[in-house]
Amino acid sequence: MKSLQDKVVVVTGAASGIGRAVAVEVARQGALVAVSDVDRAGLRETVALVKDAGAPDVHSAPLDVSDRAAFAAYARDVVAHFGRVNVVVNNAGVALAGDFEDLDYADMEWIVGINLWGVVHGTKEFLPHLIASGDGHVVNISSLFGLISIPGQSLYNATKYAVRGMSEALREEMLVAGHPVGVTVVHPGGIKTAIARNARVSDKQDAEATADLFDKRLARMTPEKAARIIVRGILKDQARVLVGIDAHALHHFARLTGSRYQDIVAAVAGRTVKTRKAVLTEKDLDESVIP
Ligand SMILES: NC(=O)c1ccc[n+]([C@@H]2O[C@H](COP(=O)([O-])OP(=O)(O)OC[C@H]3O[C@@H](n4cnc5c(N)ncnc54)[C@H](O)[C@@H]3O)[C@@H](O)[C@H]2O)c1
Repeated sequence: MKSLQDKVVVVTGAASGIGRAVAVEVARQGALVAVSDVDRAGLRETVALVKDAGAPDVHSAPLDVSDRAAFAAYARDVVAHFGRVNVVVNNAGVALAGDFEDLDYADMEWIVGINLWGVVHGTKEFLPHLIASGDGHVVNISSLFGLISIPGQSLYNATKYAVRGMSEALREEMLVAGHPVGVTVVHPGGIKTAIARNARVSDKQDAEATADLFDKRLARMTPEKAARIIVRGILKDQARVLVGIDAHALHHFARLTGSRYQDIVAAVAGRTVKTRKAVLTEKDLDESVIP
């Protein structure tokens, strides 16, 4: 896709953070925009920002991405409104903190429903229209944690690895079939958004401390800057977009260390590593590139 001028771009989870910033950025570049979210008040603010950014047309609707029937009806509505769709940005996502053994099934199903099924629904419902557009693109927001796992994020890791796997296979399928649809999977590092404040945590986890750690130590980049990097990735038809120096550094670290990265992460996380193989020397840690 050479430009976003007059392209129709759909963004889920657009009431906040990265989704809002992507909606504003594509509007600035001349796109017609469809925004959705479960947060109606936030969505109204996004609509105003998208209009201010110059979008020629804005479609807005409440949508829970985990609801398959609602997503199908939403896609029909968007296509009826614009007559076509060029880009879908499956962005809506949530976080769940806590060790695997402390997580309950309700929270696990909640995060899988939004982070994985939401992306599956958005891709499945819009794909025929993206193909028909003659110039289509799927953008699926994974995470740095779709490339590297950390303790306390097992189900978040699971959903984000799944999004990456699905997206990479889809890109290959589009190429094999000769369909005019690019696929980009995005792996942001820490971005200053509401994700940690909106997260669920296990009973053993302190919600406030977890959110504070994210806000004060881990979130480094503004969503506006992340959006510019994501949009550039669409225009260059990049298969994989890493967002932030933390994403680049940790991805590099995981590639350098192979599966040993898990032992190093566990040691750095202060966990008791029981297996002999996993016992680390100080030299191992000095050589680790964890910031
Ligand atoms: N912020 C980060 O550091 C970071 C890092 C890597 C990946 N991500 C991913 O980026 C995406 C956007 O997150 P963000 O950081 O902007 O967080 P955010 O909380 O600011 O925004 C997420 C949006 O998704 C919406 N949402 C939640 N459940 C929904 C549902 N069922 N249906 C529709 N919308 C729903 C929320 O209302 C919110 O507006 C997520 O997929 C997240 O996993 C974020």
